[in-house]
Amino acid sequence: MNIGVFDSGLGGLTIFKELLKKLPQYNYIYLGDNARVPYGGRSPAVIYEFTKQGVEFLLKKNCQLIILACNTASTNALRRIQQEYLPVHYPDRRVLGIVLPSVEAVAESGTRRVGIIATWATVNSGSFVREIKKINQEIEVLQQAGPLLVPFIEEGEISGQFLEGILRRYLTPLVDANIDSLILGCTHYGLIKEAAEKITGPGVRVISEGEVVASKLKKYLARHHEIDKKLSKKGKRQYFVTDYSQRYQDLVKLFLGNHFSNGHKLKMVAL
Ligand code: DGL
Repeated sequence: MNIGVFDSGLGGLTIFKELLKKLPQYNYIYLGDNARVPYGGRSPAVIYEFTKQGVEFLLKKNCQLIILACNTASTNALRRIQQEYLPVHYPDRRVLGIVLPSVEAVAESGTRRVGIIATWATVNSGSFVREIKKINQEIEVLQQAGPLLVPFIEEGEISGQFLEGILRRYLTPLVDANIDSLILGCTHYGLIKEAAEKITGPGVRVISEGEVVASKLKKYLARHHEIDKKLSKKGKRQYFVTDYSQRYQDLVKLFLGNHFSNGHKLKMVAL
């Protein structure tokens, strides 16, 4: 059986790339719902519906374990999928989110004041604040929505003055409030980490989620032998999108580099 990786578009590739580096032996299926990206300005009900459709597709493709490589989906749909959908339809499968790994990483780093930049839906869910406070009440958490960033990144704009201008507008209030760490709380933003670091300067630790998620998954699979033993380990990868174009395929190749070989193709699906 496979590991499924779901995102609304390209952002999940930042997680997927790290999974491929750290856990290359598994069979993976990546699904990007790029026909409906961005999710970040939508209501929790719609985000749940779209995410459930993506998860259903991956479950039908024999995914034993699915990573919601999207904070918007993790903060607005994960709990309902775990508590309402899976127990009824696929009780022996697992769906995991990506908020906790970076929250734990930042809380363990001794931070005093952390900034979160994320989509509106993630900010409004309050999940990051809640989870950080659960670990340490004393940590101050400041949130900032960055709604213009996902459309830019989906267009392949990951550096340059336009992007930096927008990023500066979003990050300046956090930097002025003297944050010592910044969580890029949207998987898309992992693609603009360098641009973010340029603006925050060396005094702020910028955390993108890929690496922490991959090491937590490695530990999870070591703990859950009953899941690990069901997973095929032939290093096979399949890619699905809800809107195919050659240009999009070139962007995937750009972000994944050698992990996306000539033999790989994006296949289009309707959810
Ligand atoms: N990649 C998604 C996240 O991590 C957001 C992109 C979107 O708005 O669809 O929040």
